[in-house]
Amino acid sequence: MVILGIETSCDETAAAVVRDGKEILSGVIASQVPVHSPFGGVVPELASRMHLEYIIPIIERALGEASISGADLDAIAVTQGPGLVGALLVGVSAAKAMAYALGKPLIAVNHLDGHIQAAFLADEMPREPFICLVVSGGHTALYRADAEGGSHLLGATRDDAAGEAFDKVAKILGIGYPGGVAIERLACGANAQAINFPRSRFDKDSLEFSFSGLKTAAANFVRTHGVPGSADSGPAGTVTLEDFAASFQEAVADVLVEKSILAARQCGLSNIAAVGGVAANGRLRERLAREAAAQNLRLYLPPVKFCTDNAVMIAAAAYRTWQRFGPQPGMLEIDAFSR
Ligand code: KG4
Ligand code: ZN
Repeated sequence: MVILGIETSCDETAAAVVRDGKEILSGVIASQVPVHSPFGGVVPELASRMHLEYIIPIIERALGEASISGADLDAIAVTQGPGLVGALLVGVSAAKAMAYALGKPLIAVNHLDGHIQAAFLADEMPREPFICLVVSGGHTALYRADAEGGSHLLGATRDDAAGEAFDKVAKILGIGYPGGVAIERLACGANAQAINFPRSRFDKDSLEFSFSGLKTAAANFVRTHGVPGSADSGPAGTVTLEDFAASFQEAVADVLVEKSILAARQCGLSNIAAVGGVAANGRLRERLAREAAAQNLRLYLPPVKFCTDNAVMIAAAAYRTWQRFGPQPGMLEIDAFSR
């Protein structure tokens, strides 16, 4: 079954052609990073406009690279939500129009389900049930992914998502967007113990997260001492910008790793996966791998390019939805949803 996947939930316009949920025939992404960079974050109105500009060429390129015509597709899949509603609307409208014009079934995909299904794009497929840490710009949560294809929420963040904290702190530091990438680049080889940032754990059995305290601590540090390494650095002159980035990254990774292992223990499962934009972080991947090995757990990580938003995971998720439920009625009437 050959599916065209379309993803426009945030700031990437992406399309991909995937056979049977695994064989990637093409996967193209138009990133809007240069457009949003000067603002230090995604500007929703700009994102919608850029999607509008990119969507048709990106779909054409995905079909071209897969050497396939629209008529050869078995279905068209699109991210319906959650995300920026104006951005989603562009993908949903394009997908509906294509499905109608070509007479093909339309499959609506939940963006989070797309991220979770990216776990199956790891070198080795995870065996269900497994613990899935979904860690992105909009979400930080632990799920139990079951063989029947459903996922059961175990715990989520009470406030900011981890990626959101990376982005906000990077903005405070003035080091660029997306924040996670900028912080990781600075952190490489720096002293992660330089600042003892707070780790929110709640009680010892809790699978909930909180990153607002960490974000506030980072902001307070800058308010008191200035941006480390900059000319106005205060008394904490020995702490460099790189040390700050490494200490912040370590605080985020510590909690994500601990809670993922705890979830596996609580559920009595031995397989864990981490997906979403923050799962692209090299330090997090390294820490998860080390801790999983120490605890005799098997870890599944999608390649970095399938952690951040992409359409391959949407086509892959659609395939599994189709296998479970088959064609759904009324799909040409679907609307994008933000939450
Ligand atoms: O999954 P994603 O592309 O979009 C959402 O669904 O949110 O995730 C984007 C988030 C951003 O907050 C970005 O800063 C973060 O993922 N991110 C990273 C890295 N690459 C992207 N965070 C830490 N380290 C990275 N290498
Ligand atoms: Zn995402």
